[in-house]
This record gives sequence, C-alpha cells and structure tokens, in this order.
Amino acid sequence: MENISDVKMMGQRCEKLRRQGRRIAFVPTMGYLHEGHLSLLHEGRRRGDILALSIFVNPIQFGVGEDFETYPRDLQRDSDLARAAGVDLLFTPRREDLYPEDFSTHVSVSGLTENLCGRSRPGHFRGVTTVVCKLFNIVRPHIALFGRKDFQQLAVIRRMVRDLDMAVEVRGLPIIREKDGLARSSRNVYLEAEERRQALALVDSLRLARRLVLAGESRAAVILQAVADRIRREEAVRIEYVQICHQDTLQDMEWVTADSVLLLAVQVGRTRLIDNHILWEEIT
Ligand code: PAF
Repeated sequence: MENISDVKMMGQRCEKLRRQGRRIAFVPTMGYLHEGHLSLLHEGRRRGDILALSIFVNPIQFGVGEDFETYPRDLQRDSDLARAAGVDLLFTPRREDLYPEDFSTHVSVSGLTENLCGRSRPGHFRGVTTVVCKLFNIVRPHIALFGRKDFQQLAVIRRMVRDLDMAVEVRGLPIIREKDGLARSSRNVYLEAEERRQALALVDSLRLARRLVLAGESRAAVILQAVADRIRREEAVRIEYVQICHQDTLQDMEWVTADSVLLLAVQVGRTRLIDNHILWEEIT
C-alpha cells in the first residue's frame, strides 16, 4: 500500500494508473474506520483494479460548535485496517493543500440539501460536495462508494455527479449494523454505556415503523408519531428530526409508498446520530 499526502503526487499517480487502463475504485472517508467503511473497501476491491481510500477530516463540513476538533482520529489503526482490506493507495491530503488561505470556490447542490440534516446543519452539504468534488478531481475514479447511512449525503453526491457531468459511477452500499442493530458510525465511540443502550431506540423505532407498514398503515403522520413516541421513552435521546421522505427528492410524504424512506436524527447526550430505512425493505 502506498501512502500519499501530496495532492499533486496523488493526481499524477492516479493519472498514470488510468493511462495503464486500470480501473480505480475510490472510497472517500474521514477515517476512524469501522465495519461500514470496510464493507465499502471490500466492494471497491471487487469492482476496481486499484483501490484508493482517502482519509481527511474535512473542516468545511463542520459547523460552529460541532465536533471537528474532537472527531475521532487514529491514522495508524486506519492504515493497518486499510492495508488488511487490500487498499493500494491511501490518500491523506494536508488541509493547507486542499484549502489554501485564499480558497474561494464551493460546490453546492440546492433543493436536496434544504430538508433534514440541511436544516439543522446549514453549510454542511456544501462542505461535503466541495471536498468530494475536489477528491474526485484529484483521484478521477471510475467508481466511488458511499454508505447509505448518510442517505441524504449519498443523494446529494449523486445529484452533483449528474448535474456536473462527472464521469464517475456512484454506488451506495447498505447500512452496516452492530449485532444489536445500532448503525455503525465513527461517532459511536463517544457514547457512554447507558447512552449506547438508549441509542438502540433508533433501530427499534425503524423496526416499529416497518411493522406498522406491513400491518397496512400508510399514513405517514401515524407512523411518525409512533416512532417519536418510542424514541422519547429514552431520556438521554433528543429528537432532531423524524421524517418520511421520497427517496429521490427527499421531500416529505403524507402517504407511505415503495419509495418512502424514514429518516432519523437524534442527539444522544452530546453525540449526534442518524439512521434511516426504506420502509418497504427488510431491516438486516
Ligand atoms: O461521509 C463522510 O465520511 C464524509 O462526509 C465524506 C464523504 C468523506 C466527505 O468528507
């Protein structure tokens, strides 16, 4: 595995591989790798001749008072996991190279970014699309892989790629859960034992919603009420949003259809967690 921090060098290395006809699969991350990331790497390994992984905690996607400074980081552990997962190119760009002092260009997707996380984290998706666009320009991957846990992020990135005619195939992979159902997230390490127990209300409420749908309930308001009631039983958990949206437009829906996704964001103590589920699919 080659570890490259220099932006120019990474671009040249990837360009050379492309010229040799190698297919580059790319997994952009902020590090502190977990099983969710490893599933992306595994799929990338299958789909590309070259597997590239980036680790960069992107400052411009964090708002004031968010956890940029404390976001978990462990590059040594990540490198070991990356090597074991068959990564060929580990890209760890430096902040000052990606964002020189006079950096002044951003990519922003409108519409899809105004609901859900976009409401509570203004500027977040602009930071995500800007860095992903930059990373795509440097690596120029044939395929890029993202987790469906960040459902809105995936939709926004797909839209950016479509609207800006970027020549990359974007694939979204299923949420990877812990044995007890908690969605894997780098932020899970922040949870105290009791908070972690209470955080199970998320997956529990997704399961409850699915049971209601299977029993014939299609009124979104009824399902949302049941979900909110379940989550509110946990005193450490504060709801940020509980919404049923169309999976493509991310607009709220009154009636559940095959395209409905239930999306949740909560604060558990000081930890923000998100989860989601397409209501007509089974929860794995
Ligand atoms: O999902 C993440 O880890 C980040 O938002 C991403 C896509 C790597 C951009 O910084």
